[in-house]
Amino acid sequence: MRGAERSFYAPVEAQLGELQRRLLDVGTGGHPTFAAAVHHLFGSPGKLLRPTLVFLSARFGPANDREVVLNLAQSLELVHTASLVHDDIVDDAALRRNVPTVNATWDDDVALIVGDYLFAKAYSLAAVLPKPEVIAIVAQTVFALCDGELNEVKATRALPSEAKYMERIELKTASLYAACCQGAALLADAEPEHVAALGAYGTSLGLAFQITDDVLDVAGDEADFGKIVGRDLALGVPTLPMIYAVETAGDPTLGARIVAPDKSAAEVRELLRIIRDSGGVERARARALSFHDAAAAALDSLPDRPEREALRDIADFVVRRVR
Ligand code: FPP
Ligand code: MG
Repeated sequence: MRGAERSFYAPVEAQLGELQRRLLDVGTGGHPTFAAAVHHLFGSPGKLLRPTLVFLSARFGPANDREVVLNLAQSLELVHTASLVHDDIVDDAALRRNVPTVNATWDDDVALIVGDYLFAKAYSLAAVLPKPEVIAIVAQTVFALCDGELNEVKATRALPSEAKYMERIELKTASLYAACCQGAALLADAEPEHVAALGAYGTSLGLAFQITDDVLDVAGDEADFGKIVGRDLALGVPTLPMIYAVETAGDPTLGARIVAPDKSAAEVRELLRIIRDSGGVERARARALSFHDAAAAALDSLPDRPEREALRDIADFVVRRVR
C-alpha cells in the first residue's frame, strides 16, 4: 500500500506499522460484526496520510512521547474512517479504496452502528491526551465534518458559488488535515509560530486534496481512483470543475442539469463529456495547485529537516495522485 516511491513515509515507517497493528485491533472484544467490519476496513488501509501528517508534525517540537502521538494519530484516523463509513451511507456508495463499502457488504444499519463504534473509540483515545486544547481540536474537527456534510446534504438544488464550495470543503476535509498537523505540533510543545505554520499547511493541503478528489471524480480513471467515477454528478453534488464548467460553457441549462438528482447513466456520461470539454477540469487543477503552493510556502518558517521535506513531498503527491 505504502509505495516505496513515496519517500514521505520513510521517516515515520515504524510508527505507521505500529498504528496499523492498533487499527486492526480496534474490533477486538467487540461484537463479531464489528470485529469483521474493522478487518474489512483496516485490512486494506488507505493512504494513511492523516497519521503520517501527525507523526511528521510531532517532530517539530521537543516533547517526544511516542504513546501520546500514536493516540492522536489513531484517534484522527478513526474519526476519518467513521466519517467515511457514514458518508458512504449518505452517498449510497458501493466502492471505496477498490473494496466494497461497509453499507454494501452488510447494510446501512450495520454501517451506521459501525461508524458510531469507531467514533466512540476515537474519542476514548482523544480523552486521554495530556492537553485539553488538543482534545478540543478533535471535538471541533468532528463538529466541522458534520457541518460540512450537512451543508452538502441540505444544500438547495442550485449550483453554489466558488466561495460556498470552498467553505464546504474547508469544513468537510481541510479541518481534519489541519487538526492532524496542529494537534501533533501542540502535543510536541512546538513553538507557537511553528504550530500556526503547520496548521496553515494542513488547511491548504486539505483544500488541494479535496479539489483533486473532485477533479478525479470527473476525470479520473476508475481502476486507479478506487471509487466510481461520476458519482458526484450522478447524485447532483456540485464540485469545482462543474462550477467552472458552468461559468465557461455559456449554456443556461447546464447548472440545473448538473444538480439534478438521480440521473440516468446516459445523462451522467453526456455531462461528464461537457464538463471535460469545458476546460473546467484544468481550471480546477490549477486551483488545487495554488493551494499546493500555499501549503509549501507555509512550511518555509519551519526548520530545515527531513520531516519538512517529507511534508513538501506530501503536498506534491496530493495534487499528482490518481487515486
Ligand atoms: C467524504 O466526502 C466525506 C467527508 C470528508 C465527511 C463526512 C462527514 C460525516 C458523514 C459526518 C459524520 C462524522 C463522524 C465523525 C461520524 P466526499 O463524499 O466528497 O468524498 P468521497 O468521494 O470520498 O465519498
Ligand atoms: Mg462520499
